[in-house]
Amino acid sequence: MTARKIIIDTDPGQDDAVAILLALASPEDVEVLGITAVAGNVPLDLTAKNARIVCELAGKVDVPVFAGCDRPLGRDLVTAEHVHGKTGLDGPDLPDPTMPLQDQNGVDFIIDTLRDNDPGTVTLCPLGPLTNIATAFQKAPDIVERVQEIVLMGGAYFEVGNITPAAEFNIYVDPQAADIVFKSGAPIVVMPLDVTHKALVTKPRNDAFRALGTAAGVAVAQMTDFFERFDKEKYGSAGAPLHDPCVTAYLIRPDLFSGRHINVEIETTSELTMGMTVADWWGVTDRPANALFIGNLDADGFFDLLTERLARL
Ligand code: RIB
Ligand code: CA
Repeated sequence: MTARKIIIDTDPGQDDAVAILLALASPEDVEVLGITAVAGNVPLDLTAKNARIVCELAGKVDVPVFAGCDRPLGRDLVTAEHVHGKTGLDGPDLPDPTMPLQDQNGVDFIIDTLRDNDPGTVTLCPLGPLTNIATAFQKAPDIVERVQEIVLMGGAYFEVGNITPAAEFNIYVDPQAADIVFKSGAPIVVMPLDVTHKALVTKPRNDAFRALGTAAGVAVAQMTDFFERFDKEKYGSAGAPLHDPCVTAYLIRPDLFSGRHINVEIETTSELTMGMTVADWWGVTDRPANALFIGNLDADGFFDLLTERLARL
């Protein structure tokens, strides 16, 4: 089977970093056409820098990295240094990147790539706020029907919010962008907190990363050691939740995941519930299904895959 062509849209972020490493370690499954940075966990200058740091950690300096939007469509940027640290990649001490940032804006790269490839052959993998994706759809509506699938990390239903009582961070930062994407008609797979909170880096799993003894394995152990604090304090979690790597793992082993094809709509009016993903899990409305909303995963299978692939770097 040929590798699936993907664009990773990201706001690194330790969990974004692990998702990118998993993709770059799996060339037989995914061909990373490019990485587009977006403002989210930390401001754009840092997410664009961190994306390149991760590519160099993987030894894949030929992957083009682009900077996209530096703020949400219609709201002030909210960042998450309280989770990811000042740099966005706190934990390991990684060198500044030497690979260049591409001159082209990430939004235009997304548009050009979808236009230059056959319809239905490029998958978009947003791991942060959906600003770049929505901006591309607004600037070039013709590309929407060319998208093979959007596999994104964002939202929550049973888990409710991690940045407000109602909303998950990626959707909360840019709810208008999320509303555009979820109403676009493109096929969507959603990795909400409902599933990512089941992908926890327990100590044995962290020890397995560290035992790889490689730069990538040790760095991932250090990253997850750092960013587990927030979830341990808030949820009493047994370890860091690997939110974004669920996206990459789904592309490689969709059988590890299960969910329902349901209607998901975004709150964009009330400040009380701004950014909430209103997921009709129980089918109580006649709203059309627009997303495969993932609720569960085989966590041991997920970590076996992740550890095996990280060992390749
Ligand atoms: O809520 C978790 C999401 O927000 C993850 O993508 C994390 O990297 C942050 O972007
Ligand atoms: Ca992210």
